[in-house]
Amino acid sequence: MKVFLATYGCQANERDSETILGLLAEMGYEETAEEPQADVILLNTCCIREKAEQKVFSYLGTLKQYKQARPGLVIGVCGCMAQEEDMPKLIRRRAPHVDFILGTHVLHRLPDMIRGAGHGAGLRCDREETGGIAEGLPSARRYPFKALINITYGCDNFCAYCVVPYVRGRERSRLPQDVLEESRRAVAEGALEIMYLGQNVNSYGNTWGAAQGRGGFAALLCQAQEIDGLRRIRFMTSHPRDFGDDVITAIAECDKVAGHIHLPVQSGADRVLARMNRGYGREEYFALIQSIRRRLPDAVLTTDVIVGFPGETEEDLQDTLDLLEEVGFDSAFTFMYSPRRGTAAALMEGQIPLEVKKARLRRVMEAQAASSLRLHRLLLGRELVVLAESWEEGVLSGRGEGNQLIHFPGGPQGVGCFHRVTVTEAQTWTLKGEVRGGE
Ligand code: SAH
Ligand code: SF4
Ligand code: F3S
Repeated sequence: MKVFLATYGCQANERDSETILGLLAEMGYEETAEEPQADVILLNTCCIREKAEQKVFSYLGTLKQYKQARPGLVIGVCGCMAQEEDMPKLIRRRAPHVDFILGTHVLHRLPDMIRGAGHGAGLRCDREETGGIAEGLPSARRYPFKALINITYGCDNFCAYCVVPYVRGRERSRLPQDVLEESRRAVAEGALEIMYLGQNVNSYGNTWGAAQGRGGFAALLCQAQEIDGLRRIRFMTSHPRDFGDDVITAIAECDKVAGHIHLPVQSGADRVLARMNRGYGREEYFALIQSIRRRLPDAVLTTDVIVGFPGETEEDLQDTLDLLEEVGFDSAFTFMYSPRRGTAAALMEGQIPLEVKKARLRRVMEAQAASSLRLHRLLLGRELVVLAESWEEGVLSGRGEGNQLIHFPGGPQGVGCFHRVTVTEAQTWTLKGEVRGGE
């Protein structure tokens, strides 16, 4: 029996897909890359922006032919879209060939769902929030050499534009012993790098936290640092409002913790930040950048920016452009604001026309491209410690400590190993380099 799995969205979904494949492997399913061979087709979906959702619906459209040809084929929708209130209705209308919808809180019930699917039962839906964290689920890791590990689930921040708190539920932190146990197991199974995942890693532990005498995120990093055989620890995403000095100290003191901080700013304008409910202002963001730079001079900073948030003026955009210029991010994900059903911002006045958003996005992307190129050129001649992740036609590709994507000559056996790579060519999005010494 075979399963085809399409994953959309962020690393939370990438991680869930590993669990999905783990659960299916226990049922005897093998993964296939060809839909026509699959007995089960699953979509692990994202709804962060409208485009993400459109992509899923258009893919679902293409699956209709397979279902018609083979009525026994099981098609399931998992992930964040599954949690949207009106999704059962939308799927019934737009993709009636879907057999089931399974929510993000009940992944462990996937085997039941698959066993019960078909038999003319119509669309089944299971997404009741359970509140607890299901520990110990199997997982089939995508890469043996790097492990994605959740430290928190959900989000409590309710940024006005964002659907995540609604589709992923309240923030819950896993216990440190569970996180560390999973980390040790991943390393024992060959992982050299782990990536700690949370929508706001800086609030790790808030739900049980200091009151019980356990440390938060900084303490977790320091404990992970002690794992023998582990080479690098990454984490994502940092929230500027909650980013404490103790985390800066942990990064400075723990040599395995990568000096890369993804610190989404979203906007450079105080007015917009307040309406977004981000909980910090422009000056606070600058102050945080300064303390990071003072204590971690080599740290690489990256960010996310949204343009065209309701009410954003030309001056607000200018503030964002100034901030990008002043901070100098190594790279940035830039997005046009996309209204999401059920979020506060979708109902705000001052929605910005698409053409204006597009023009602003272009300006922000151009400014960021210039920054990226400038910073990448500073790396020429420097050596990066790179974990190679893939190989194609004599070229290895991997990421440096600062998450910089770099390509360099090498053989396929170099995948999954660390290399010392000297940067020889700098482009906006990527670097090229070569290995001059040993590992
Ligand atoms: N928890 C992370 C980000 C999760 S979503 C954080 O707080 O930074 C990833 C990025 O998508 C966000 O940082 C934001 O820039 C963008 N995003 C989220 N909702 C959006 C929306 N409605 N429209 C456009 N971009 C959005
Ligand atoms: Fe969304 Fe804000 Fe939570 Fe990030 S912190 S997931 S942007 S609500
Ligand atoms: Fe998308 Fe869900 Fe992640 S909405 S960005 S897959 S948490």
